[in-house]
Amino acid sequence: EMPLLEQCYNLLDFEAVARRVMKKTAWGYYSSAADDEITLRENHSAFHRIWFRPRILIDVEKVDFSTTMLGTPCSIPFYVTATALGKLGHAEGEVVLTRSAHQHNVIQMIPTLASCAFDEIVDAAGPGQVQWLQLYVNKDRAITQRIVQHAEKRGCKGLFITVDAPQLGRREKDMRMKFTDEGSNVQGGQATDTSQGAARAISTFIDPSLSWADIPWFQSITKMPIVLKGVQRVEDVVKAVEAGVQGVVLSNHGGRQLEFARSAVEVLAETMPVLRERGLENKIEIYVDGGIRRATDILKALCLGAKGVGIGRPFLYAMSAYGQDGVDRAMQLLKDEMEMGMRLIGARNVGELNPGMLDARGLFNH
Ligand code: FNR
Repeated sequence: EMPLLEQCYNLLDFEAVARRVMKKTAWGYYSSAADDEITLRENHSAFHRIWFRPRILIDVEKVDFSTTMLGTPCSIPFYVTATALGKLGHAEGEVVLTRSAHQHNVIQMIPTLASCAFDEIVDAAGPGQVQWLQLYVNKDRAITQRIVQHAEKRGCKGLFITVDAPQLGRREKDMRMKFTDEGSNVQGGQATDTSQGAARAISTFIDPSLSWADIPWFQSITKMPIVLKGVQRVEDVVKAVEAGVQGVVLSNHGGRQLEFARSAVEVLAETMPVLRERGLENKIEIYVDGGIRRATDILKALCLGAKGVGIGRPFLYAMSAYGQDGVDRAMQLLKDEMEMGMRLIGARNVGELNPGMLDARGLFNH
């Protein structure tokens, strides 16, 4: 018996439904994380160590949580982050997310390892809809150059280079599933060994020799803003500024890569004071992802200085369980939570969010 969509009141509800109704292989691939899944859990518990210091008696009749990311306006400060293999969860794959993103004026990051062809995902976009490209860098740089330049030609507005995956993490829940699904047909890589789960099967082309020295080459082949996805310490944020990229995503890949990587929000709290001290805070846009399930999580990240946040699994679960209606509802729930959250902490727009609205003293004590 499947619960009605109207019975999902928040993003975690979609996960509970998806766990029951999804195929085992798909659930294994989407939900899994590295090793003992300590970082996966920390992505949630880190937010539990941050509390609000709301302002009172601010006129919050009208609140506006629209913003810009990499110069593009959007309705709310989250984007649909890149998650591979959309067709494992839903027959139509990533285009379902594209349509919901369009409905809600939300930006979508297209994964290299999408189940749908890249052009199909771009074609599914509505007029003016903004998409970014997530890039796994191929050992054959000619292939990478073609992918990047094609994405730019098709109108993508940002290049997110994944830098936390020189080798795919060990996701044992995924490995235990024999991986033979149709959804494994991906565009960016070739399935080679399907006996060790979905992740292994699709990732053998990724270049582990990628380094800082490659960044100028990316800057020479594209005019898209470049963002490094998967940065995990302030020293590397500073290096990213020096390298002249437009942004970083503080991320541990949803707990799927290095086990005992810290949560993005903790890295954010470490990063912003250093950037401010060195006058670099306006030189780069900082994004975070991992474990964002509530508007209060988004508000905490923005108060700490993030420009926006990425959300992954919740939309996959909503899509797998209910198709586009599910993803639409998940996004609407976040908007409703966001309006309430802004009112209750006393912020009329995202520009008013600041570290003084938080008590994050407990963040590093755990
Ligand atoms: C991912 N993620 C990811 N990242 C990336 O750069 N390229 C990719 O192909 C994928 N694929 C992928 C598949 C699945 C099933 C998941 C769950 C995640 C990581 C993703 O972009 C993001 O960092 C995390 O998903 C954020 O954490 P939450 O929101 O899932 O908790």
